[in-house]
Amino acid sequence: MPIAGIFGPQDLGNPARGRSVASRGGISAAERARALPMPSLQWTPEVERLTAHLYERVRGVIPPVEWPFMAPYVKAINELKEARGAVILAHNYQTPEIFHCVADIGGDSLQLAIEAAKVKADVIVQCGVHFMAETSKILNPNKTVLIPDSRAGCSLASSITGADVRLLRERFPGVPVVAYVNTSADVKAEVDICCTSSNAVAVVESLNAPEVIFVPDQYLAKYVASKTSVKIIAWKGACEVHERFTGDELRSFREADPTVQIIAHPECPPDVLAEADFTGSTAHMINWVRSNHPKRVVMITECSMADNVQAELPDVEMVRPCNLCPHMKRITLPKILDSLLYLREEVTIDPLIAEKARRSVERMVNLKN
Ligand code: 13P
Ligand code: SF4
Repeated sequence: MPIAGIFGPQDLGNPARGRSVASRGGISAAERARALPMPSLQWTPEVERLTAHLYERVRGVIPPVEWPFMAPYVKAINELKEARGAVILAHNYQTPEIFHCVADIGGDSLQLAIEAAKVKADVIVQCGVHFMAETSKILNPNKTVLIPDSRAGCSLASSITGADVRLLRERFPGVPVVAYVNTSADVKAEVDICCTSSNAVAVVESLNAPEVIFVPDQYLAKYVASKTSVKIIAWKGACEVHERFTGDELRSFREADPTVQIIAHPECPPDVLAEADFTGSTAHMINWVRSNHPKRVVMITECSMADNVQAELPDVEMVRPCNLCPHMKRITLPKILDSLLYLREEVTIDPLIAEKARRSVERMVNLKN
């Protein structure tokens, strides 16, 4: 059914936006004091030999001329990870040299949240955007959680504040609130439960309520509303990457090749999803390609993911509409190296907010589907 209503800050009389992402400063004195020695970043025959097995994983998507610039960082990062007792979590949208060559665990937001809850290492380096690093910190309050560039934001996370959620609750007393994990800790602290695009329908239905407030992605809300009889009240947020796709664009891919398969992320607008052969989270899309093994596929999502899948499945032809997420792309090998060398940039959350946010995230993680 169509969503029951859609709200934004203006509709609640709260145009003030609360969230600002701190600017990335230079290396501080405290960070210098705990630094490890700077490793060599020379391309040598030894570096070539020691990284050859990693290059094999990305050979199909990274040209040989680029590897000498990446390999010294890859080797240094993998050694520093050991020295720091660190684990690297990487979202499916990270570039292949990060996703396939330095990450210990890769996945969609749900997989990363589940893995973050199980991490044994003392230090977690989150290669993804700020809300993902916050989720890891929420689930690991006593560990050091680092993000290589704290300016890696998200248009969805910055579209809503905790104060907006409180106003929504006043407007709709007694109606439970579900927040997509693409939100700040401040928002997670105000809601009943979190969800990701993998489990959004199951989370909404788990509340056994006739009506649910679903924030902040209006398109994911519309997708959920199309799959459930629960009445959905939505928020006017959108992903700046997925909202750019259009139904016309998908039709033109199909006109060019009627046999092509098109798979799309539920953050896309409804006219885009109407043209897709399959809709799912990033992990569901990857699994769909693994199990269906199409000859040609268009992935309607952030484009580094197509590179990562191409590296794994070289015989599937990927058609890549290149919509990049500028926030995800802030994470680079040199910044990951700095993160491990200087233990920067550390993610901190007010303990009272973190405690409240943990309840909503854990309620989702513990949900049995
Ligand atoms: P997934 O949970 O599907 O990985 O999505 C996260 C995201 O940011 C998509 O834009
Ligand atoms: Fe946010 Fe969209 Fe980037 Fe995902 S792709 S992090 S939803 S802006």
